Amino acid sequence: MKLIFATNNQHKVDEIQHIIGNKFDVISLKQAGIDIDIPEPHDTLEENAVEKSSTIYKLTDTDCFSEDTGLEVEALNGEPGVKSARYAGDVKDFNKNIEKLLFKLGNDNNRKARFRTVISLIINKEQHLFEGICEGEIISSPAGSNGFGYDSVFVPAGATRTFAEMTMEEKNTFSHRKKATEKLVLFLNKLNIR
Ligand code: IMP
Repeated sequence: MKLIFATNNQHKVDEIQHIIGNKFDVISLKQAGIDIDIPEPHDTLEENAVEKSSTIYKLTDTDCFSEDTGLEVEALNGEPGVKSARYAGDVKDFNKNIEKLLFKLGNDNNRKARFRTVISLIINKEQHLFEGICEGEIISSPAGSNGFGYDSVFVPAGATRTFAEMTMEEKNTFSHRKKATEKLVLFLNKLNIR
């Protein structure tokens, strides 16, 4: 079964295809021939995820899903949260975002943070939401070069290394996106689509 994944982030496509396996064929926007930067204008991950899936559904009339993820840091009252991608400015810049995050946290002893993913699926003209959370903490300087975004400063609970020091398989044993995607897969499996 074919599902369009409403994202331009190839890392996310790879991660999710890896979790979903062969049963569902995840098509990226690029593969679907769609070249747009979908707006994320809202104040919640849920609203942004819905906006992205609805935009692509309207364009393609094809079953699709989207996801929106934020890093929520306790000592910063949930920042960067829904603003994670553009925390340091309008242009998406992973390094600048990390610099700003570490600067704002300073020497605060409370390093607690979590990644939260919301997936919005539109299938058979109906919309469904799935959530995945990964608790962890922010370290004081980046470590590792795998992954993307805030991976190099985030150590998930129960681990001693950052996401950026892990392989994709290792990251997926903890990951927020993995947890939300598993709920999506469970739901799709129950639909009994062959
Ligand atoms: P998006 O709006 O869902 O694309 O995600 C917002 C931002 O959160 C991204 O630009 C990344 O900086 C960050 N982000 C999302 N998922 C992850 C992840 O798995 N690891 C590290 N950073 C992430």
